Amino acid sequence: MGLSRFSGKRIVIGITGSIAAFKVAGWVSTLTKEGADVSVVMTESACRFVAPLTFSALSGKAVVTDMFTAEETHCISHIELGQGADLLLIAPATANTIAKLAHGLADDILSTTVLAADCPVLIAPAMNSRMYENPLTQKNITILQEQGYTVIDPEYGTMACKTEGPGRLAKWDDVQEELLQVLSTQDLAGEKLLITAGPTREALDPARFLSNRSSGKMGYALARTARRRGAEVHLVSGPSCERVPSGVKITRIETAEEMYNVVTASCHDCSVIIKAAAVSDFRPETTASEKVKKENAECVLRLEQTDDILKMLGRHKEDKQYLLVGFAAESCALREAGRKKLETKNLDLIAINDISNSNTGFESETNQVILCDRKGFTELPLTSKEQTADLILDRIVQLLEPLSFEIPSCK
Ligand code: CTP
Repeated sequence: MGLSRFSGKRIVIGITGSIAAFKVAGWVSTLTKEGADVSVVMTESACRFVAPLTFSALSGKAVVTDMFTAEETHCISHIELGQGADLLLIAPATANTIAKLAHGLADDILSTTVLAADCPVLIAPAMNSRMYENPLTQKNITILQEQGYTVIDPEYGTMACKTEGPGRLAKWDDVQEELLQVLSTQDLAGEKLLITAGPTREALDPARFLSNRSSGKMGYALARTARRRGAEVHLVSGPSCERVPSGVKITRIETAEEMYNVVTASCHDCSVIIKAAAVSDFRPETTASEKVKKENAECVLRLEQTDDILKMLGRHKEDKQYLLVGFAAESCALREAGRKKLETKNLDLIAINDISNSNTGFESETNQVILCDRKGFTELPLTSKEQTADLILDRIVQLLEPLSFEIPSCK
């Protein structure tokens, strides 16, 4: 669901001689399925690990392996390949290729393509950990970074050569994030976003707690997409199984009180705060230090209200100068309830969620929200949480333009 993020993008993938080359076959397949126009360039040693036929079958295009054959046939040259491409990714990148690129050598189809490219270049190293940690390789990586190339850190783990350390090719999820960041408009560059996500848990005893059905998916999607658009993101998250987006600072909390404390300590220098978390409104009046046995248990729970974090942020909004965005989980009279929260909590924007529908709101992969700001309502389409996040961020970008703050409250 949602627009394909790579649709129509021209991506050149350079593959060099590492055992990790086979992993990139899956990446080429995914990118091609998402509508990208993928051209694969392979070095001679890469062809010894995986046959070019694998990549041509997956990309639907002939793989470029030889500088001279390619030029003779006039199909595609090293100059044309990297020109007009949206990005060039070298994965896996061996120590040898990294060294060649760092010193401007151009002795094969891949190094000449990179040298002639006028698009962003991303490099995902993969090699034995001693080779990776060798000061010469590290120096070469620094040279490439200083040159404006993005180097995607390899993972720590056990190599094919049985040694353990850094050097395993980065995971697709992280590589994909880097590609999407390069392809995204950096309209949130320079902005600091504080985003809360997930549920909170309020303990009854060491085994039991009160919580809610929030999965964290919406808040994590906001963190991921905001980071892609150039923002510095601090995610404050209740218990969630979602993967922490690379490049995002995370603070994990469990209770509403812990979330209150982290948010209060971190809100000062933020330009935008988005409270996507489903904060528990109540907590038990007392928490038993030992597990409550059922024969001794009272069947009535005594609860007290937690502090409303969003309301507190609304009270300090003017002196702290952040844009404040809330969520409203509603099951009926959505617009009225959402607008009331916008006003009583002094928000700039609220995303109203219909939690009575199985494909919107809690735990669902998709969402459909109504945005409400001081000007009125905008209904967003039913789409993936990631695309919903992008649409919410589009509105935030508009509101960040200074004039938007001048608009009087709606009636
Ligand atoms: N919120 C908060 N602190 C709380 C309760 C809610 O910061 N103790 C925030 C949520 O993160 C969300 C917004 O307030 O952004 C609205 O939460 P919601 O649960 O929809 O509404 P409540 O204000 O809790 O009111 P009610 O549950 O009665 O609808």
